[in-house]
Amino acid sequence: MLGTDIAIDLGTSAVKIYLDGKGIILNEPAVVAVNLETDQVVALGHEAYAMVGRTSDKIQVTHPLCNGVISNFDLAQYLISYYLKKIGDSKFFMPRVVVSVPCQITEVEKRAVVDAISAAGVRKICLIEEPVAAALGAGVDIAKPYGTLVVDVGGGTTDMAVLSLSGIAISRSLKIAGNVFDEAIVKFIRRKYNLLIGQRMAEEAKNAIGCVYPKKDETKHRVKGRNAMTGLPQYADISCDEMLEALIEPAMQIVRTLQEMLEKTPPELMSDVYSDGIILTGGSSRLFGLDTLISKKVKMPVRIAEDPDICVALGAGKAIKFIDDIENKAYGVLNPLSAAY
Ligand SMILES: Nc1ncnc2c1ncn2[C@@H]1O[C@H](COP(=O)(O)OP(=O)(O)OP(=O)(O)O)[C@@H](O)[C@H]1O
Ligand SMILES: [Mg+2]
Repeated sequence: MLGTDIAIDLGTSAVKIYLDGKGIILNEPAVVAVNLETDQVVALGHEAYAMVGRTSDKIQVTHPLCNGVISNFDLAQYLISYYLKKIGDSKFFMPRVVVSVPCQITEVEKRAVVDAISAAGVRKICLIEEPVAAALGAGVDIAKPYGTLVVDVGGGTTDMAVLSLSGIAISRSLKIAGNVFDEAIVKFIRRKYNLLIGQRMAEEAKNAIGCVYPKKDETKHRVKGRNAMTGLPQYADISCDEMLEALIEPAMQIVRTLQEMLEKTPPELMSDVYSDGIILTGGSSRLFGLDTLISKKVKMPVRIAEDPDICVALGAGKAIKFIDDIENKAYGVLNPLSAAY
């Protein structure tokens, strides 16, 4: 496996790995379960995700990444090493890696990502900013002197940027995305029905019938939990209209940030964006009506990329071809990567 190149998208919700020549070969929840008595990891990925909200007090299920950055270094490093071992079973597996990072993180946060990956044994690490990777993954020719607006709505953050000439002209990042939508549902159901439900139950309901624009659909979704007053088991059948009521405020915060960024976008780029419209990526772009809501509010066409949740990983994968230039120190202006190690 010596000579292999891979791309990693370390998301808040899921880790995605792209293997050059093969495509996406891993997409697992970024979750680790730890036995608190022995301090040992007992499960990772899908297996650990199945334990969320269902553990004994001996086991803690943790997300080592929070809002797109590493919040628990040791567990993040464990997770990355485990997955790299899983995909490259040879002890000579020393890949070159492109890793995507949110566009507004600090140098310290970047360093943590680089250190966590390099500890797994890699030859070279290059960084790519998430919106740039998202646009590449959505099939945009980012090298042109032409403005493209990408909004990546993930699990922990929404990153938006106007790109031109393989770089970012203006960007914004906010900590409102899938997790905040789930929390909004938990709070709404507690307020309206006095019913306490877990975050996983809320996520399932969101993915099944969630919407941020009115939907002509009578389908109801059952959520189960316990009554906040009596402590007894209880359920409620939630409608799409109720989902809209719960989710509209966080969705509008994304819209307002986008409007504010557009106000500051240079006019030439703005006119490009205006004719081509906005590209939505990230798993939360699947939320029903988010595209319509944004389109109505900013008065521009909006399209959801194909396979939105893996766009960043796909784009980081497409950028693998630029690693050689970085290694040869042939830094072209149009190289979307930056060297880190
Ligand atoms: N059909 C759906 N409707 C609404 N939300 C969805 C749907 N499918 C997936 N999601 C949400 O998408 C989010 C995960 O998206 P994604 O994989 O892009 O996040 P991430 O890259 O891990 O996070 P981040 O980029 O913020 O670090 C989760 O919050 C999930 O609930
Ligand atoms: Mg992401």
